[in-house]
Amino acid sequence: MGEKMLDQRIVAPGLKVEDVDEVTLRPRYLDEFIGQARVRETLALCIEAARRRGEALDHVLLYGPPGLGKTTLAHIIAREMGGNIRVTSGPAIERPGDLAAILTNLGPGDILFIDEVHRLSRTVEEILYPGMEDFALDIVIGKGPGARSLRLNLPRFTLVGATTRAGHLTSPLRDRFGVVSRLEFYSPEDLLAIVIRGAGIIRVDIEPAGAALIARRARGTPRVANRLLKRVRDYVQVRAQGVITADNAVEALEFLGIDELGLDNTDRHLLAVLIEKFGGGPVGLDTLAAATGEEAANLEDVYEPYLLQSGLITRTSRGRVATPLAYRHMGSPQPASAGQETIW
Ligand SMILES: Nc1ncnc2c1ncn2[C@@H]1O[C@H](COP(=O)(O)OP(=O)(O)O)[C@@H](O)[C@H]1O
Ligand SMILES: [Mg+2]
Repeated sequence: MGEKMLDQRIVAPGLKVEDVDEVTLRPRYLDEFIGQARVRETLALCIEAARRRGEALDHVLLYGPPGLGKTTLAHIIAREMGGNIRVTSGPAIERPGDLAAILTNLGPGDILFIDEVHRLSRTVEEILYPGMEDFALDIVIGKGPGARSLRLNLPRFTLVGATTRAGHLTSPLRDRFGVVSRLEFYSPEDLLAIVIRGAGIIRVDIEPAGAALIARRARGTPRVANRLLKRVRDYVQVRAQGVITADNAVEALEFLGIDELGLDNTDRHLLAVLIEKFGGGPVGLDTLAAATGEEAANLEDVYEPYLLQSGLITRTSRGRVATPLAYRHMGSPQPASAGQETIW
């Protein structure tokens, strides 16, 4: 079934074709999905109930930082419901006609997965509302005074939307999802289980201490855990005996520029700029983006969530601020006033 599902994916223009390795490492069923207990339990319950009623599952919105398992869950939902999955993304659906074509090609019980659902255009969204709510597609035939509107019935399908920014969703769209689940960063224990599972799949020998080390530096993110595992494996195959131990994992990660907190060169550059150029902040996102040469959206979606979660930066109404922990981590002396609001 796995191969078949891949063939059925509509890889629309603008959609990133995912890394093949990432697809093989993806858990296929809810039982194999590690961590996120609340999300898993909610989905298991809704899926079971829908199956018993013989109905399509309610529309599901998954949100949270990149690499936490949104795409994986969309595929799992399809597999658990026994439906086909159509994959597309917000920016790939340019015109209302594109969405109409996708909707009219769905079968009963199919899953329509829209990644980056916050990036749908307004006109496309408006086609989606009756689709989600009434399983209907309103089309206008002709132009001017003679135009007629026609309502087509659609099969009962399930929309699974994924987004890194639930806050950017319009409220009419958000309100039409029956299940809204937020993915959290993973605990080191869950990441350890993910690393060990991944090592089994890519067939690399790993000692528990080596796996724990990779898990601790994976910034709470399964995608990062799997990526570090593969890079450490490469390093160990060339420089050591092929078995990942705590010692050679440390060596490999230092070689890759990943520090004890899991920060990479970009994260550290960001903290360095915040501390050295802006006196620790507060500094606005766009200014920080310009000073570091990163895209603001990338900073906000990819880098910032983990820095916030680790307590290295905070967000205030006036911008981002480096915390004392950030100064300590970067080995910079903290000026007495840094990071504090002036009190008069
Ligand atoms: N709970 C999990 N257990 C094991 N591996 C996971 C889990 N969640 C994600 N992964 C791994 O992380 C990778 C990234 O997940 P993905 O679903 O693509 O994240 P997102 O869509 O949220 O960016 C997947 O290929 C998968 O290998
Ligand atoms: Mg994804």
